[in-house]
Amino acid sequence: MEETLKYIQSIIGDFKPEIGIILGSGLGELADEYCDIAISYNDIPNFIKSTVKGHKGRLVFAQISGKNVVMMQGRNHFYEGHTMQEITYPIKVMKKLGVKNLILTNAAGGVNESFSAGDLMIITDHINNMGSNPLIGKNDDTLGERFPDMTDVYKLDLIELAQKCAQYLNIDIQKGVYIANSGPSYETPAEIRMARLLGADAVGMSTVPEAIVANYCGMQVLGISCISNAASSSGGAALSHEEVIAATDKAKHKFKQLVVKIIEQI
Ligand code: HPA
Repeated sequence: MEETLKYIQSIIGDFKPEIGIILGSGLGELADEYCDIAISYNDIPNFIKSTVKGHKGRLVFAQISGKNVVMMQGRNHFYEGHTMQEITYPIKVMKKLGVKNLILTNAAGGVNESFSAGDLMIITDHINNMGSNPLIGKNDDTLGERFPDMTDVYKLDLIELAQKCAQYLNIDIQKGVYIANSGPSYETPAEIRMARLLGADAVGMSTVPEAIVANYCGMQVLGISCISNAASSSGGAALSHEEVIAATDKAKHKFKQLVVKIIEQI
């Protein structure tokens, strides 16, 4: 960690990020529009490299709406073969850099039948169905407790603030529970029916490990999913990564507007 921080600080100097954002599939453009300093993950000691098409791998520092922000343009996933601890290491780095509020974004399948492709959903809670937990292993007591509470991972005041911002911008917004599977295979119709029975509204392959670690180390978390497809519980049209990227591409304008407004209001 010392080595990682020393390298980052040698580049950003006295820039102190207070808001962190992880940009999901197809949503990375925000970091192209607002970019004061960019560091490739490849250059950061102890960071892992992103391997998925459509996910860049850069840590981007910028002032947005007068706030100092650090963005992950591209994230690492469990399905790439990295450990839970590896994929959540950047969250701990953000914490050490001084980040207090973390905005997690992703592309997700709509489990709730009232959702349409292109909808944005504020995450109110999650279900960890990935079969592992990023806090497994020796606990670092300087970051958080051995058995951290997860009662309110997604903070109500941030949820309300995001809703108000959406309203102000005339953007329809959904709210719901996000269930994370390990992936990389998409769900079968039976698995979607199961997710619905469990109380999930959207399904994806990320975000939950990061939310667990952020909450564990005392960060305020806000999660926003871009519903890229209706996850089918009755069969029907096949789903592809290209479709997911195309749908997030269509929603990216309102997504960017919303995130910038939220940053302004935090
Ligand atoms: N399932 C899992 N992850 C996803 C999906 C989906 O339908 N869409 C985008 N990410």
